[in-house]
Amino acid sequence: MSSIELRINGKDVRRSVEDHQLLVSFLREDLGLTGTHVGCDTSQCGACVVSVDGATVKSCTMLAVQAHGCSVATIEGVSQTTSLHAVQEAFQRHHALQCGYCTAGLVITAIDLIERVGSQLTRDQVAHALKGNLCRCTGYQNIINAILDAAGHLDVAAQAAE
Ligand code: FES
Ligand code: FES
Repeated sequence: MSSIELRINGKDVRRSVEDHQLLVSFLREDLGLTGTHVGCDTSQCGACVVSVDGATVKSCTMLAVQAHGCSVATIEGVSQTTSLHAVQEAFQRHHALQCGYCTAGLVITAIDLIERVGSQLTRDQVAHALKGNLCRCTGYQNIINAILDAAGHLDVAAQAAE
């Protein structure tokens, strides 16, 4: 067992974990953050994507002990208010989900992409960024539309805040 301290969705967390425990299992089973999903166990589907120190990570490929000292953001923390995050609202507006199993990973991936590229984001860039996120339901077009829409909205919000 190892003792780890990390920040999750803005809150300090201290726990003992098995050295072989995956980050995704720590989030889901130890902390009850079940919005992060496990879709494959082979590092392909992206349902488990979270943000670790500002970079997207498939949490089934990282040990919980490796997150010691890190700041982790999961889908539960993307909005600090009772409202949805702009990317979540765009997914709703564009019908960018059906079963929703992939959605948390896609939203975390999209937020990271938008924060890095902003409103200059192109359709090709979004498609490329989603290569690690599998969706078996939607065909991706509405997901890409939602992310492009959110990129515009987020940029407008950022400008208004300046
Ligand atoms: Fe992590 Fe599929 S569960 S990539
Ligand atoms: Fe069902 Fe993406 S909405 S897997």
